[in-house]
Amino acid sequence: MTVEFISLTPPNASTELAPIPNAGVDAEFLTRYARTLDDYSFNYTLIPYMSSSFDPFTIGATIAAVTKNINVIIALRPNTLYPTVAAKALATLDQLSSGRVVVHFIAGGSDAEQAKEGDFLNKEQRYARLEDYIKILRRAWQSSEPFDWDSEYYTFKQFSNGVLPTKGTIRVSVGGSSDDAYRIGGAHADIFGLWGEPLKETKQQIDRIYEEAAKAGRAETDRPRIWVTFRPIIAETDELAWAKAHRTLDALSGNIAKGQGKVEPNAPEPQNVGSQRLLEIAKRGEVQDRALWYPTVTATNARGASTALVGSPQTIADSILDYVDLGADLISIRGYDNLNDVIDYGRYVLPKVREALKEREAARPAA
Ligand SMILES: Cc1cc2nc3c(=O)[nH]c(=O)nc-3n(C[C@H](O)[C@H](O)[C@H](O)COP(=O)(O)O)c2cc1C
Repeated sequence: MTVEFISLTPPNASTELAPIPNAGVDAEFLTRYARTLDDYSFNYTLIPYMSSSFDPFTIGATIAAVTKNINVIIALRPNTLYPTVAAKALATLDQLSSGRVVVHFIAGGSDAEQAKEGDFLNKEQRYARLEDYIKILRRAWQSSEPFDWDSEYYTFKQFSNGVLPTKGTIRVSVGGSSDDAYRIGGAHADIFGLWGEPLKETKQQIDRIYEEAAKAGRAETDRPRIWVTFRPIIAETDELAWAKAHRTLDALSGNIAKGQGKVEPNAPEPQNVGSQRLLEIAKRGEVQDRALWYPTVTATNARGASTALVGSPQTIADSILDYVDLGADLISIRGYDNLNDVIDYGRYVLPKVREALKEREAARPAA
């Protein structure tokens, strides 16, 4: 199994620990961050989407222009772009980057957040629209032959796509933890994105995704690749890492209390199942498995990926390998101190995981 690493690219040097109020997009920072990912052989970087945040396509194009290898993952909510426009925008970026594009679909987890950009469908409808959207994009990437579409969410006539992807198609990722997410992602995605849950719960989620893939008639060799997301807090030894984890939590909580965090103090219970699951698991105790730490989840009301892995490079690498053993081969690691953490992971974690995988491969009896 090929294991690959994902990061997340912020638009500037602002972090949850040291927020820079009203920071704009910082091209110099972006270039430095993206090149650091490339230098340390990260494979992908996610450019997230929020109703109030920067445009992922132009950020993705900037990253692609200053790097050689990293794949950009564009987060996309179907309500924000007509599907024919999205098909061309993604294919344009794909051509500009010689095929280094993935699209990560977000059906939309919060009614209030969706309403900010004019989307008043309920969640079930948003997932139904997402299914339609993925079908349209895949059709548009197949050929320039004109085609019609007539469904509940989209109707158009004789669309012909003159911008085809370089490798025949563009990889599609779906994220979420609801039954609808498993169903749509299981049936249509090349990649399925999950947040960091304990091993047992992650295995249950993977089984659900595979079950849905099988129901949709996909062979075992054609199931979605599994992406799991962590926020590692790393230091030279486990002891130093735990001290750092508590400093990180204090800074996160302090900024939220001052109104400078990404989440409002006393925010209501999140509507998306992924966040609800994290908050439920957090109630069971601070540490799960080897080093999966939940206080950062509770402090941030599980707003986005928030489960930490705490420890020395060896502990973090061993924890990651536990998930690889479950079948997750896309490992997303982003810390709370973005750029410095990329350097630490690149120097100390990625080589350890890759070395361990190589050793395992060498120890396997020849077929
Ligand atoms: C790996 C990953 C990345 C995500 N990135 C985003 C993002 O950039 N923007 C966003 O609004 N939601 C993002 N989400 C959240 C979910 O996709 C979203 O809440 C989903 O549409 C509904 O979740 P549910 O099916 O768990 O209820 C991400 C989820 C995962 C697992």
